[in-house]
Amino acid sequence: MTRETAAESVLERIKWPQEDNKIPQEILTDPDLFRLEMEKVFAGPTWHLVAHDAEIPNKGDYKTSFIGTVPILVSRDEDGIAHVLVNACAHRGAKVVCDARGNASGRSFQCIYHAWTYNLAGNLVGVSLPDSFPEDFKKENFGLPKARVQTYRGCIFATLSDATPPLEEYLGEMVDGLGRAMKDGRLILLGFQKIIFKNNWKIYAENLYDGYHTVSLHKAFRMLKVKSAGGEGYNPRYETYGHSWQEYRTFPPDETEMLKDPSVMAVKTKYEAINRIMNIFPCSIVSDQLDTLSVRYVLPRAVDQTEVQFVTFARQGESDELVRHRIRQGSNLFGPEGFITLEDGTALARMQMGAPARGENVVLKGTTRRFPPYRLLDEASIRHFYGGYRRIMGF
Ligand code: FES
Ligand SMILES: [Fe+2]
Repeated sequence: MTRETAAESVLERIKWPQEDNKIPQEILTDPDLFRLEMEKVFAGPTWHLVAHDAEIPNKGDYKTSFIGTVPILVSRDEDGIAHVLVNACAHRGAKVVCDARGNASGRSFQCIYHAWTYNLAGNLVGVSLPDSFPEDFKKENFGLPKARVQTYRGCIFATLSDATPPLEEYLGEMVDGLGRAMKDGRLILLGFQKIIFKNNWKIYAENLYDGYHTVSLHKAFRMLKVKSAGGEGYNPRYETYGHSWQEYRTFPPDETEMLKDPSVMAVKTKYEAINRIMNIFPCSIVSDQLDTLSVRYVLPRAVDQTEVQFVTFARQGESDELVRHRIRQGSNLFGPEGFITLEDGTALARMQMGAPARGENVVLKGTTRRFPPYRLLDEASIRHFYGGYRRIMGF
C-alpha cells in the first residue's frame, strides 16, 4: 500500500459514531491520520494566522514558522509588503532560513547547499556557477512558492490552498471578535515564549471550546470568579468552519485568597473586565484576557507532540508601567509557565496518555442544547470543532 492510500484508508479504518458528541480515541494516536490532516486541514482550504504586523514591523524583517508541518518564511519586502513563502529551496529542497527571526534589508536569503539566493519576496535572484545549466533554465521559474496572504487588523493570515474562500468570508463573525481584541491593529511586540506539549494538536485546539474545565481545573479562574459576559451564553461561530469565540467577565480575587501578590491578576486596561478567547479553525488562537493580549501559534510536530508559541503584545503608546504589567501577567498567568498553562499542559498530556485505551470519549455537559448560546461552563461547543474537522477530513 502506498503512503497515500494508507492515509486515505485510515478514514475507513477509524469508525466515527453517528452521535456528534462521541470522539474516537484513535484520532489522537494514528500516524496515518496525522499525515492526512497535514494535507486536508493544514494544506487544505483553511486560513492560518502566521504573524502579526508588529512581529515584522520594518522593511526586511522576517520570521520563520510552519503551516502544519510545512516550513514557512514570513518576510516584509523593501516596499513594505508582507510575504509568506514556503521555506524550502526551489533547487533541492533544503530549508533556506533557519533562525527564528531577523532583518535581511539590503540582503538576500542564501541557501547554504548550492548558494541559490532569494530576495525578500522569495524570487530567485542568483545561482552559483551559472554555466552549464539547461538552456531553458529561467530564474523566474524557481522562486520560493508563495502562500496566499490576507491581513486583518494587523493579523497576517496565509493559506496554501487555492480553494480557500476570501479571508473575511472564512472568518465570518470572528471579524467582529478579532476587531474587538486587536482594535486598530497598532501593536508592539513584547516577546514570545514557546513550549512543546506532549499531546496531539487537536487536544490543544479543542481545549479552547471546553468551558467545563475552566473552573474544575484552573484555580486562577476560580479566584477570578468567571461569569458569562452577556446573558448566559457565549458566541461560538460554528456553522461552516468550526471557529470558537468565548467572552467572559472576571472579578478581582478576594483578599483571603492564597496569592502573595494579587497584582498579577489586576486589570488596568479595561473599564469592565470583559475577556475574550478565540480559535480560528483549525488552530489560530487570539487571546484578550485580563490585560494579556496575545496570539498563539499551534504547530503540530508529530501525532503526539504540539509546539505552541505564545506571542504577547501591548498597544502602541502605552506607559512603561503598563507594558511591564502586561509582560508580568502574560508570562505568570497565560504563558507556558503561567498558572493556567501549567494546568492545561498537565491535563492535555493526560488526555494523550489515555488515548491508547482506544475507546470513545464523550462530550456531555450542555449538549441538551443543539445550538448556541451555550452556558459558559458547558462543553457543548466542542462538537462544533469536531464538526468542522469531520467535514474537512471527509469522515
Ligand atoms: S538545495 Fe538550495 S541551492 Fe541547492
Ligand atoms: Fe484551560
